[in-house]
Amino acid sequence: MNIVNDIMKLKRARDAVILAHNYQRPEIQDIADFVGDSLGLSIQASGTDAEVIVFCGVHFMAETAKILSPRKTVLLPDMDAGCPMADMITADQLRELKTHHPDATVVCYVNTTAEVKAESDICCTSANAVSIVTDLKKANREILFVPDMYLGDFVAREADCDLITWRGFCPSHARVLPDDILIQQGLHPRARVLAHPECTPEVRKLADRVMSTEGMCWLVHEMKEDEFIVATEVGILHRMGKENPGKKFYPASELAVCPNMKRITLEKLHWALEGMHNEITVSRETIARAKKSIQRMLVYRS
Ligand code: 13P
Ligand code: SF4
Repeated sequence: MNIVNDIMKLKRARDAVILAHNYQRPEIQDIADFVGDSLGLSIQASGTDAEVIVFCGVHFMAETAKILSPRKTVLLPDMDAGCPMADMITADQLRELKTHHPDATVVCYVNTTAEVKAESDICCTSANAVSIVTDLKKANREILFVPDMYLGDFVAREADCDLITWRGFCPSHARVLPDDILIQQGLHPRARVLAHPECTPEVRKLADRVMSTEGMCWLVHEMKEDEFIVATEVGILHRMGKENPGKKFYPASELAVCPNMKRITLEKLHWALEGMHNEITVSRETIARAKKSIQRMLVYRS
């Protein structure tokens, strides 16, 4: 049995498209129709002609695909592939926060549940958060930013405004320490440092550029430099290496692994497609409300 060939056959039989996040295992990235960041994957999910979307990523990403394409069948090969940061704020907690700031605009990171998106005015990803907040600040209203305090801190600085941020964070990015960057710089003095905005402010300070995963993939291709220290989840190094054979990429920390992203395997992908298992469902009411905040975000392509 060749599992890759079998997945390809099933994909055709089911009229499915395989979407994979940049942090997925190499063999999943290699089999996917599209590999990208949260924004790129949302755009693909909203525009696909396929009947079935197999989402190789974490739960909130598959849920976002379902909200954008409610008539499609969306499968997540492992339902336990969650995002601890997304679980750091519930819709009840957001409703409570809103009672203290009744006139505020609520911006939610895409790393949130559908119910939290439904309570928000506009969604954002790490690729478009700065543009969105830069526009919102013109209205001169308070802005609540949930749930990532580190992305919130980055956006507040870039957009030069105050944000009321929730105290969530990504446990995988928080594992990257300033010392890790300094050690890698000692080993690779010519390398440029790229960091994801989910990293701590101390790590970001040491970076040459702070960007979303897709921004990083684009930048390493465009830049003439050929060595990079990458401060984000290690799965991205597979794509970077594949797309830039002459360049060298070093993980800032080998510990920056998202165990949830790694739950998706070829076996689980095969199982989900064969039996049409693990279908994502979102109530009609939540779809209607959450869709507004996601569609507002999709106007901002970067
Ligand atoms: P990107 O949108 O930059 O791919 O990030 C998603 C994510 O979950 C980062 O931890
Ligand atoms: Fe969530 Fe962090 Fe994993 Fe991204 S890397 S999915 S933010 S836990």
